[in-house]
Amino acid sequence: MISKTLETALNKQINREFYSEFLYLSMAAYFETIFLKGFAKWMRIQATEEHAHAMKIYEFIIARGGKVALETIEAPKAKWASAGKVFEEAYAHEQKVTGYINGLVDLAIKEKDHATFEFLQWFVREQVEEEASTGEILSQINIVGDIIGHLFYLDHHLGKRG
Ligand code: FEO
Repeated sequence: MISKTLETALNKQINREFYSEFLYLSMAAYFETIFLKGFAKWMRIQATEEHAHAMKIYEFIIARGGKVALETIEAPKAKWASAGKVFEEAYAHEQKVTGYINGLVDLAIKEKDHATFEFLQWFVREQVEEEASTGEILSQINIVGDIIGHLFYLDHHLGKRG
C-alpha cells in the first residue's frame, strides 16, 4: 500500500506528464505552421512518450492500492519565435522534469518506500535520455543557425524518428 503523501506526489507527476504531452503536441502544431514536418513528427512522437510516462505512473498507483486522481491539465503556449526557441524550451522543460523526478525519489527514500524508489529508477534513467535528446537537437539547431537549407536537412533527419 502506498502512503497518502506519495500517492498525492505521484498524482501530481501524472498531471505534469500529461502537461508535457500537451506541450509537445502544441510544439508539433507550431512546427506544422512553419512547414517543418520532420520537427513536427519528432514532437508528436515525443508527446506519445509523455502519455506513456503518465500511464506508467497511473498503473503503478493502482498496483500499489492507491487512488488515481486526475487534475485539470494546464494549457500550453502555442507560439514560438523559431525552431531554436522551441527546443530551448523543450530542453529547459526536461531539466525541470528531472528535478521533479529527483524530488519524488527523495520522497520515496524519506517514506522508506522501496517499491516506489525502485519504480522511479526507470524515470531517473529516462530523464538522462530526455535531456540528452532535446539538448542535442538544440545544439544542432544552434550550429545550423539561420541557414534554411541546413534547417531543412535537419528537418528531414528528425522526420526519420520512428
Ligand atoms: Fe516524461 Fe519528457 O519526461
